[in-house]
Amino acid sequence: MKKQRIAILASGNGSNAEAIMNWAMIQKSLAEVVCIGSNVKTAYVHERAKKFLVPTFTISKKKNEDKHGFDERLVEKLQSYSPDWIVLAGYMKILTPVFLKKYPGRVINIHPSLLPAFPGLDGYGDAFRAGVSESGCTVHYVDEGVDTGAIIAQKKFSLIKGESFDDFKKRGLVIENQFYPEVIETLLKGNL
Ligand code: GRF
Repeated sequence: MKKQRIAILASGNGSNAEAIMNWAMIQKSLAEVVCIGSNVKTAYVHERAKKFLVPTFTISKKKNEDKHGFDERLVEKLQSYSPDWIVLAGYMKILTPVFLKKYPGRVINIHPSLLPAFPGLDGYGDAFRAGVSESGCTVHYVDEGVDTGAIIAQKKFSLIKGESFDDFKKRGLVIENQFYPEVIETLLKGNL
């Protein structure tokens, strides 16, 4: 199989992006992270990419630009890297049909809850406040909705009695960092 070219989109910290870059270094014959795109110039993910010599770029919203115009510029930039897969890792914008039509069935995301429970901006927070005894993360295809695309795989974990929210969230992120590359590998090998 042709080596798969992965473009990551991220807006912030980038721990999942780093985990995927690490994994791709090991799985050199299977995949390569060809770029990281962001909508935030100061996002820490840019620093993480430097260690791996992965090029990054930022598309900032122009004054009076609508979301379709933004996505057109994002697609144009991404196309110069010819990605096979678009992997969202903490990308905080909703992708429009302009974008999704360019990469049908090739855009995936990780969300910090067991979808369809707790979609939206604060999956861990919403689950914690709801007092669930079990939470997790979900890798899913991206559609035009908010965390509504078809589910690819989920990882469950229990809440520890008395655990603080910060500890719960930190633990969740560590689990995501392991799970996301595992799911991507399985997906790329055609086993999902
Ligand atoms: C993760 O919890 C992910 O599930 C969510 O945003 C967070 C990104 O974290 N979509 P990081 O930037 O990868 O550290």
